[in-house]
Amino acid sequence: MIFYANTGDYSDADRYERFALDCKLGEKAFEIGSVVKYLVGKILNQSKSIEILETASATGLTAVGVTEELVKVNIKHTYTSLDIEQNLLCYAEARKRGDNFIQDDFENLPFTDNAFDIYIVMGAGGYRPKGTFYPEVRRVLKVGGYYIMPQIGPRSFTSTHEKDRVLNSGLIIVQKNNYLIAQNI
Ligand SMILES: C[S@@+](CC[C@H](N)C(=O)[O-])C[C@H]1O[C@@H](n2cnc3c(N)ncnc32)[C@H](O)[C@@H]1O
Repeated sequence: MIFYANTGDYSDADRYERFALDCKLGEKAFEIGSVVKYLVGKILNQSKSIEILETASATGLTAVGVTEELVKVNIKHTYTSLDIEQNLLCYAEARKRGDNFIQDDFENLPFTDNAFDIYIVMGAGGYRPKGTFYPEVRRVLKVGGYYIMPQIGPRSFTSTHEKDRVLNSGLIIVQKNNYLIAQNI
């Protein structure tokens, strides 16, 4: 992630996809899918469709792994992908990596309160200058819903600072190692 963290230039979706595949994020997506499957099984009545939000979704690689894992066990869901970069969303949408594609800011989400069962974000910790990221996570998560932040890159463990931000927003931390998982209680 160092190259992109330095430049913040996501104007070339093909280039980002190649970079993400080099970082093995295609495989990581299936691991994330297993985590989502486990959490959905714990908390939700699976006869209903679950609402998943992924922000900073880029070219949609995570959506592929998560969707495939849920389809395997017949978990109905709607996958909403949000990114600030329209060209990345277009790339994902052209490949049907998800259901809804929304260009917007994850620090000011365009959703009603209590809209999602699962919220996923990865690799975007450096893009949150306003301090409204976690209050927005909590606002859009349903009660009982889960926030999932896989840790990637050179620091693959959740930092104390990140944990503090989660706790300050009122979410409850349920796991804090190479996955930060929190619940809206
Ligand atoms: C390093 S990439 C990570 C993408 C993907 N989650 C992954 O792990 O490959 C950071 C992503 O955050 C997006 N991004 C940056 N600022 C954002 C914001 N304020 N709201 C939503 N997305 C943002 C970028 O467009 C880019 O897709």
